[in-house]
Amino acid sequence: MSKQFILFEDAATDSGFESNISKYKYPFHEVDVGNITFQSGQVEPVHKWYRLTPSFSPGLVRFFLEHFEIESCNLVLDPFSGRGTTAIECQKHGIPCVAYEINPSLQRVGALSLIWRPTKSDLFATFLEDLRKEASAARALTMEEVLAKFETTLPIIHDLYRWWQPQVLKDLIIARELSRSTKFLPICHFLWVAVASSVLDCANIHRNHPTITFDDDHQRQIIVEDVLSLKIADIQGDLDSMPDNIADHTGQANVQLNDSCHSLDQGLAGKQCTHVITSPPYPNRFSYVHQTRPELHFMELIRERGEATEIDLRSVGGTWGRATSVLAKDYIPPPCELDPILDYITELKPKSILMCNYATKYFVDLYKHIQLLRGVVAPAFRGVYVVGNSRLSGVEIFTETILARICELCGFTIDQIILFRKRGGRQRLYETAVCIKA
Ligand SMILES: C[S@@+](CC[C@H](N)C(=O)[O-])C[C@H]1O[C@@H](n2cnc3c(N)ncnc32)[C@H](O)[C@@H]1O
Repeated sequence: MSKQFILFEDAATDSGFESNISKYKYPFHEVDVGNITFQSGQVEPVHKWYRLTPSFSPGLVRFFLEHFEIESCNLVLDPFSGRGTTAIECQKHGIPCVAYEINPSLQRVGALSLIWRPTKSDLFATFLEDLRKEASAARALTMEEVLAKFETTLPIIHDLYRWWQPQVLKDLIIARELSRSTKFLPICHFLWVAVASSVLDCANIHRNHPTITFDDDHQRQIIVEDVLSLKIADIQGDLDSMPDNIADHTGQANVQLNDSCHSLDQGLAGKQCTHVITSPPYPNRFSYVHQTRPELHFMELIRERGEATEIDLRSVGGTWGRATSVLAKDYIPPPCELDPILDYITELKPKSILMCNYATKYFVDLYKHIQLLRGVVAPAFRGVYVVGNSRLSGVEIFTETILARICELCGFTIDQIILFRKRGGRQRLYETAVCIKA
């Protein structure tokens, strides 16, 4: 752990972090744990099977496993699992972990990334060979004929052919349907992750950080089989090189579909969690559902367009469609106990009712979650919430101190607030870890 109360870089100072944190007198540390973004995970076994740009790094999870001295007798909870970084890293270390995720695609990716059973590796090669043959045969078929052959339908996503060129879509559908055939049952989990993670790689998009945008005029040649071969090689390589004693940890961690603002006990089987290592969404109008909608539709995890926006409405920080329109009209006052804590309201309300309501819904959701947390923690509980600040209509939202005060309101003690290096090169954004204890 490094020096106390020494600020580095301009980021935090520009945003008023320094004066804000000193106002609340929380114990504060500055820590450099290297790159804490998704990028470090892209070169690590298992983590690299799927790319979620707002993920935190496996190194960050390892930092907290060590910091809290977490062992195999403990139980870690990650209520906002995302790509499943905490669960994967816990399982690698043989530490029991229950993770929850509201987005069906991310939940499935997380859950399936935890199956490390050795597998008949020649099946992967057979799959790619069958894909090659079927895709080549399908060149002479219309889309309708391909759909009829595999008894399936087109994804119901808006602007279907803006997302994928017809030939690419055909090949992706063939890959998905082949991966479901009984012949590939022993490797179907791995194929599911490979196909789901290829869906965006094969789309006509720019994969910016953190959002995706259409790339309508690109001249790239997208070959589904090549994209999938690389994914499969990654997965197979990791499985083949995984030491038996780590592969044997399969089953130690799991990721379940759950709304962590409405319940937390479903996966705990009556046990109390000793630790939380998590990162909820930030109040920055980023929609996880919107960003993952191509795979939500393509992998047939949602069957109606409206379903996606309904999930976003229930997600912390959701901002897509109804998640925004329900906040757009009148000012929504927070519960009175939160009123003194939500320090942005006075400045933000006159500037934008919508943004003020958005931030308030975000913190009310976190409040509901922390209240639930109180009911599932062990007496010596310690936890960490990694959060980022944001600016809405020009008003700084100091997520870390608001969350810290919410935790105190719910009976937790603030151990310390850790400041990490600046995020994304943009001056005023920073990330912090709010460390709490029972
Ligand atoms: C910052 S991301 C977590 C990233 C994760 N630490 C990782 O490394 O991949 C926050 C996640 O919380 C999920 N989420 C939002 N609201 C939720 C809720 N009410 N219950 C469970 N998960 C939720 C989002 O879908 C998103 O995947």
